[in-house]
Amino acid sequence: RTVYLKDYTVPEYLIHNVDLSFTLDEKNTRVVSRLTMCRNPASRSSDTSLTLTGENLKLVRVVLNEDSELGDKDYLQTPDSLIIHEVPQQRSFVLTIENTIDPKANTALEGLYLSNGMLCTQCEAEGFRKITYFLDRPDVMATFTTTIVGDKDRFPVLLSNGNRVGGGDLPDNRHWVSWKDPFKKPCYLFALVAGRLECVEDRFTTMSGRDIALQIFVEKHDLDKCDHAMQSLKHAMAWDEQVYGREYDLDLYMIVAVGHFNMGAMENKGLNIFNTKFVLARPDTATDADYENIEGVIGHEYFHNWTGNRITCRDWFQLSLKEGFTVFRDQEFTGDRTSRAVKRIEDVNMLRTRQFAEDAGPLAHPIRPDAYIEINNFYTLTVYEKGAEVVRMLHTLLGAAGFRKGSDLYFERHDGQAVTCDDFVSAMETANGVDLSQFRRWYAQAGTPVVGVAQHFDAAQKTLSLTLSQHCPPTPGQTAKEPLHIPVVTGLINRDGSPALCRLGENEAAAEQVVLELTQAKQAFVFSGLEEEPVVSLLRGFSAPVKPALNRPPEELAFLLSHDPDTFNRWDAGQQLAVQVMSGLIADYRNGAKLAVNPLLIDAYRKVLEQSWDDLSYFSLLMTLPSELYLTEQMRVVDVEAIHHAREAVARALAEQLREPLETLYLRYHRDESGRFDAGAIGRRRIKNTCLSYLAQLDADWARHWSLQQFNTAKNMTDQLAALTVIVNHPHPARQQCLDGFYRQWRHEALVIDKWFAAQAMSPMPGTYERVLGLLGHPAFDIRNPNRVRSLIGAFSQSNPLHFHAADGQGYRFLADRIIELNGLNPQVASRMVGALTSWRRYDENRQNRMKAELERIVSTEVISKDVYELAAKSLA
Ligand code: ARG
Ligand code: ZN
Repeated sequence: RTVYLKDYTVPEYLIHNVDLSFTLDEKNTRVVSRLTMCRNPASRSSDTSLTLTGENLKLVRVVLNEDSELGDKDYLQTPDSLIIHEVPQQRSFVLTIENTIDPKANTALEGLYLSNGMLCTQCEAEGFRKITYFLDRPDVMATFTTTIVGDKDRFPVLLSNGNRVGGGDLPDNRHWVSWKDPFKKPCYLFALVAGRLECVEDRFTTMSGRDIALQIFVEKHDLDKCDHAMQSLKHAMAWDEQVYGREYDLDLYMIVAVGHFNMGAMENKGLNIFNTKFVLARPDTATDADYENIEGVIGHEYFHNWTGNRITCRDWFQLSLKEGFTVFRDQEFTGDRTSRAVKRIEDVNMLRTRQFAEDAGPLAHPIRPDAYIEINNFYTLTVYEKGAEVVRMLHTLLGAAGFRKGSDLYFERHDGQAVTCDDFVSAMETANGVDLSQFRRWYAQAGTPVVGVAQHFDAAQKTLSLTLSQHCPPTPGQTAKEPLHIPVVTGLINRDGSPALCRLGENEAAAEQVVLELTQAKQAFVFSGLEEEPVVSLLRGFSAPVKPALNRPPEELAFLLSHDPDTFNRWDAGQQLAVQVMSGLIADYRNGAKLAVNPLLIDAYRKVLEQSWDDLSYFSLLMTLPSELYLTEQMRVVDVEAIHHAREAVARALAEQLREPLETLYLRYHRDESGRFDAGAIGRRRIKNTCLSYLAQLDADWARHWSLQQFNTAKNMTDQLAALTVIVNHPHPARQQCLDGFYRQWRHEALVIDKWFAAQAMSPMPGTYERVLGLLGHPAFDIRNPNRVRSLIGAFSQSNPLHFHAADGQGYRFLADRIIELNGLNPQVASRMVGALTSWRRYDENRQNRMKAELERIVSTEVISKDVYELAAKSLA
């Protein structure tokens, strides 16, 4: 069944207050829910029955207004609802529902479930209906009180949202705790956690002087890995005060780390539940990337307290209202905390490889989708990352101060409400006195626009006219596209490398760069006062999620790589230059020609290498070639082998010809570092490991020696894993010995073992498929653990194009088998794995047929979940 945005109607009933009580048991938890509710005066329906949603629940009894227990004839139970035939229409009433649930049987990890003996919940998007019957929709907001009763030994810690308001002992070695959340919230923000947990505590004083207790709950052996998460939380709280003027509202902020989690983390009010991957870090167990991700996700969930919780979504089509905005907020937070330049590049890289692919494929959808079968399938790169780009464009168009005025008005207008994307844009509009009606199309239109560029210099007039055009290819269900409002941040550079001032029209003041607002299908912008024809630096900072159609000569790209003051465009010029060279080699490879690398590229990289850089992480990015996945996006018919060999050929040529400076650089930074999370140390590790991976291409003793030496002596996971990756990705005599040693060393650290699985799954070496197949049977592999599934099956299918797309189709068959198996256990995780097959039309006929056949096999699975069905069926359509 498909749900449509156009069918939205207000809820027929409202729930003011929810009183929940849980009596915990792994297999049989008792839930009593007392709902104080009334008819919604805004509803126009004349139906006097009440339909509550509920799934996998065992109903015990229903009582209306405390006294009258309802009988069979008073209500109807369906597999996903409870319909009460008649409820009061004129006054509020109390409905008490008692039901039981079986957390142990819950392998879908949605609702109440067990993870390593602890009970925890995941309710977004529609998991609350697996706990009790309710109006499970985000525009029904209520205050919640939760009482939890459980065995003292099995469940010494009992947590829920809000502030703790009571607790005590009970007979039979049991105890109880009560929680009250004073803020109205939709049920998707409900949370409960119970188990043997230990806690790290700290405090934060808000800008108005309120004292907040901060607690992170983990299993005992992880207590020494919470430091960074706690620091991150305090930084996030301070940042939201400084940048958005937003203060925390409860007296207590709790984070719980669980080992079994479908996604990254969840912003439940006052009680965030996190995948351990985004909490736990110690220098020897977590990489620099993990540290950065933890800070980003802690920030993300914290920022949701205002963008998501205090103001929530009216319906799930509005998901990007909270996710796009919150991702934008966490991106900026990380940029401020680390390196702006690096963070922007990382984000755009991900957008251009993965989100652009989604936007160009059969599952393309606008950031505000208009239909879905299973909402969990719409927690996508489009809703999250492209959604963040749309918010970023508003920031660019309005400026930081204008954007802040808009966000202030948004918080003021809508606090305590469930609203729409349109409400957000309206607040931006009103606060700045601008018209964003055309900009709103970004919310409704799918696909990545292509921006054409033509430039003409008039030496006599000293003008440069820049003609920009836009068109967006059709996407499923949207054939005709309207022009979008696209901010194109543009700068000009003189031939000697100095910046040229931009003057648009005669009266405008000159500026270092300007925001060109492209609103028409084709539009000319004239820069004046130019003595010579400048080089145009377009779309600085990647100011819009579009594909510029620019065919620059390689010399111009090399020029920009040396001179563009915009850190993003400078990096991107190097990427485009490498893409040009590699595209040529891909063609050569397909023609059976010898692969000779254009010396211009080598020279450009040599220049980068010879400069001195303050930001070594940025330097490393300049030295990193576009990924195979990025190249995949550039090809009309994807040839995985040609891409792989062309890229290897360039890497090898760079290593051969820049061997000396690369070795020197490696040795300069090859010093013993404990793994501090500071920009300097991170940069040194990053550039050093970039050099090592180039030098490993040379099939020489030098890299074999240093990778092994680094592996054996590393004091931090960044260096150890980088060395292991080099060893696993190349023929190395110590390969098996290192893998075994790593496993023995880390067998008690689940998150490190995930890395061990992933490193093997992503190796380009022959025999990887057989190894992955073998690892399925490894005692540490557990298909019920989503992190394990992602580290083995996800890494192989999504990050190892060479082996996953092997021409014989064994990779496809392997993945389809796993999806069919997961479909019965955990539909959300299963459907996440379908993504690797959806772009089947992009491959050659043989691969197309094989991928399609596997999708067809998946669709014909007998008991298929909505999740998997929707993605597989739409991929085939
Ligand atoms: N709201 C969470 C976040 O972005 C994601 C939870 C999504 N969970 C799901 N099952 N769809 O932080
Ligand atoms: Zn989020």
